Formats: sequence, C-alpha cells, structure tokens
Amino acid sequence: GGQVSRQMTKVLFVCLGNICRSPLAEALFKHKIKQLQWADQFIADSCGTGDYHIGSQPDKRTIASAEKHGVEIFHVCRQLTRFDLEEFHYILAMDKNIHQDILLMANSSSFDEKIFMMRDFDPLFPGADVPDPYHGGNREFQEVFGILNRSVDGFIEHLKKAHSS
Ligand code: 4NP
Repeated sequence: GGQVSRQMTKVLFVCLGNICRSPLAEALFKHKIKQLQWADQFIADSCGTGDYHIGSQPDKRTIASAEKHGVEIFHVCRQLTRFDLEEFHYILAMDKNIHQDILLMANSSSFDEKIFMMRDFDPLFPGADVPDPYHGGNREFQEVFGILNRSVDGFIEHLKKAHSS
C-alpha cells in the first residue's frame, strides 16, 4: 500500500508570563497524548503574551504541582509572536485578557476559528478563566492543576471527535 502521510496538528497554549499556567497545560497535554500513543501526531508548545520571564524555566511551584502528579515538565519561556498565529492549528488562551490580546495581535478575523479559551473545553465551567496563580500560594497552584487537568482532557475529547475518520 501507499505511504500515508499525515499532517501534524500543532497546539499552542498561551498565558501571560509563560511560567505558570501555559507550560503546565503543555506538559499535561504532552503527558496525556503520550499515554494515548498519539505523541507522533501532535506538536505542542506554550508561550506568554508578556516578556517578563523570557528564557526562564517554569515557576518552581508549577514544577512541584506537575511532579506531584507524575507529569514531566520542561519548558523555556518565550513570547507569543504573530508567526505563531499562522503556524499553530489550535491556540488556547488561559483567560479572557489573553484571548483579547491574541485577537488584537491577529488584527483580522482570519485566525478567529483557531483561537479558543482553554476552558471552552472544561465541562464544569465552559469558557471561564484559568485564574493566574502567580501571586497565590500552594492552594492556587493546586486549583490551577485541577482546572487544567480537566480542561486538557476535554480538549483531547474534542480532538478525538475532530480528527477521527
Ligand atoms: P502565568 O502567570 O501567566 O500563568 O505564567 C504569571 C507569571 C508571571 C507574571 C504574571 C503571570 N508576571 O507578571 O511576572
């Protein structure tokens, strides 16, 4: 039979600092697709709209919350660019301010259909914000872990429907 070539689906998670929420979402997504043996079908990355932490690793509290649940997390902070809007197929914003900033960067409706709120895929609170835990404590980081764990599951369910055929 002929060789089947399949386009990789590219997924980008976006928050403000790219050290708390979006690198954890990226890590959870990679962890889950690896378990599904889908890792070769997706490219996942994360970035921030802000430039405060470019070059930094994720926040120690984010790393701790991931490792507590057996989720590997490796990322170097980078800032969102307009090229990302062309490059990625799914762009998932952690809150409505981020969502708005991405739409402003797009400056046209041509990317609208691939820009989502992360919690569009949270069955419990669809469309809500993933709260910024940066000024919080352990409890806030645990809360974010739970929200992202559930939302990434919901996103993967969406992908199963969108990409099955
Ligand atoms: P994140 O959290 O957007 O989830 O990475 C933040 C981290 C740092 C800052 C803001 C939010 N900051 O202003 O430095």
